[in-house]
Amino acid sequence: MKAIFLPLFLLTYFLSANQTFEPSETCKKCHPAIYKEFQSTQHSKASIFDDEIHAAVWKKHPKNRELQSYTCAKCHTPAASNIDELVKINNGVVPDVNSSTQREGISCAYCHRIESIKHDRMMNINVISKEEKSYFGSLQKHIKSPFHKIKTNSAHFNNGNACIGCHSHKKNKFDMNVCSTNVNNELEKANCVSCHMPKVEGSISTLHETKEHTFHGFPGTHSHQDMLSKYAALSLQENDNGFDLLIENKSSHALSLHPMRVMQIRVKVTRAGKIVELERKNLAKIIGADGKPTPPWLAKEVVKDTAIKGNEKRILSYGYTLEKDDKVDVTIGYYLVNPKMLKGLGLKKSKVATKFNIFKTKSFEIKK
Ligand code: HEC
Ligand code: HEC
Ligand code: HEC
Ligand code: HEC
Ligand code: HEC
Repeated sequence: MKAIFLPLFLLTYFLSANQTFEPSETCKKCHPAIYKEFQSTQHSKASIFDDEIHAAVWKKHPKNRELQSYTCAKCHTPAASNIDELVKINNGVVPDVNSSTQREGISCAYCHRIESIKHDRMMNINVISKEEKSYFGSLQKHIKSPFHKIKTNSAHFNNGNACIGCHSHKKNKFDMNVCSTNVNNELEKANCVSCHMPKVEGSISTLHETKEHTFHGFPGTHSHQDMLSKYAALSLQENDNGFDLLIENKSSHALSLHPMRVMQIRVKVTRAGKIVELERKNLAKIIGADGKPTPPWLAKEVVKDTAIKGNEKRILSYGYTLEKDDKVDVTIGYYLVNPKMLKGLGLKKSKVATKFNIFKTKSFEIKK
């Protein structure tokens, strides 16, 4: 992945003034399909007012309780018209439910104005182009838009480079990387965009009929999980003590990436009409200090990591002997918030946080 290094004075110039971004609503008229897909995503719901999990963590965060500095804005509400004030310490400016630019989340115009990425130690920085109504993209052939300029930057947009300003890494004050997509581990011919923004039917715009467009529903752990299940393969092998389940992660990063998640493998055996549920197995990366889990801002180490890594083939063993005509149903799913964290975050009643989400299912008929 490419990075550019700017002299410091230039960088301060890029980052200093509050910027204005065309609201996503404006794009709806000519890009209705893309707009509709985008509305359902975490990118459009990334503010504390539209994401209750983010809000719950923010409520407990020392930057909120002690400093009143919403530094999360850099990635969660980067199109906010008052972003510079939001990230400053103790100036009384806090997230505002009535601010339409804060409710935009990672807006269309923001993402399409990312010119380059500056790599940095704590987190990367998006360098935003100064030209307001001019958008980067990767279409080889396109008509002119009556509303905005188009700047082709395929090397940057279709290889996922535009994603790593926010998704590469995030460190806390103990230099601990609390959330990382492990971007160095790219797969051949696959990247963030090819997996998370596949081509689907429907026109790019109303002004120029095309057969397909890039899906802007950003399949992930909140929605459109089914579009990603092909990147995990499941197989079953019997042995002397029972059987092994083999889970092959074909993506470049760990499954259940975010440190709040916990993946759970559920196995059910149906024999002569009777169902036996085998022991559930949890897979997660737990961060903390002194061997105990902590919130991310206090974490100094990885306490335990059973999450399936990028490109890993994981074997899970079950001491249960299968018989002819047994049916084995396997479910790979996850909780967005580890059930052990729910109480501390006040999320016990939250539907989103407590739901068991299904990622992939497969049935095996035992033939012998
Ligand atoms: C460097 C960019 C960046 C910053 C700064 C940042 N986040 Fe995030 N955050 C992300 C990304 C990217 C994701 C999605 C990661 C994923 O799903 O694995 C995310 C996801 C989350 C989630 C999970 C949300 C859900 O619905 O599951 C929580 C909670 C969260 N962030 C809290 C915070 C808080 C609180 C702050 C500020 C103190 C913050 N983040 C600052 C990039 C950032
Ligand atoms: C008046 C109509 C109109 C509006 C409003 C509009 N666009 Fe477009 N846009 C177009 C047309 C036409 C194209 C070219 C499509 C083609 O040739 O298939 C286009 C292309 C694009 C591209 C493709 C660039 C590439 O090369 O990949 C991007 C990105 C884009 N628009 C972003 C936006 C965003 C963001 C907004 C809202 C802030 C927006 N557009 C609003 C008409 C519009
Ligand atoms: C300006 C920062 C930013 C940029 C740029 C960005 N993201 Fe995100 N992304 C986030 C944040 C923040 C979240 C989590 C929002 C939340 O849940 O509150 C997120 C969430 C996601 C998710 C998880 C969705 C889900 O359902 O859980 C996926 C997938 C994703 N981003 C992919 C991408 C891809 C692909 C790109 C590049 C084309 C990209 N992102 C660019 C900030 C960004
Ligand atoms: C080969 C396909 C593939 C590639 C390449 C890929 N992903 Fe993913 N991504 C997946 C799959 C599959 C999942 C769902 C895993 C799960 O449920 O834990 C996922 C989940 C995610 C999530 C949600 C994680 C969470 O816990 O909420 C984010 C964010 C994300 N990917 C961002 C990225 C970014 C950014 C890149 C590029 C640096 C990238 N992905 C590259 C396949 C891919
Ligand atoms: C998180 C970043 C991100 C956000 C947010 C985003 N886009 Fe895109 N968009 C991309 C990337 C990356 C591509 C290039 C995909 C490729 O090359 O395969 C793209 C492609 C496009 C294209 C080119 C046509 C196509 O289908 O390939 C248009 C038009 C477009 N986006 C409009 C929009 C509009 C309108 C919105 C908001 C409703 C939006 N984008 C939100 C990252 C984003």
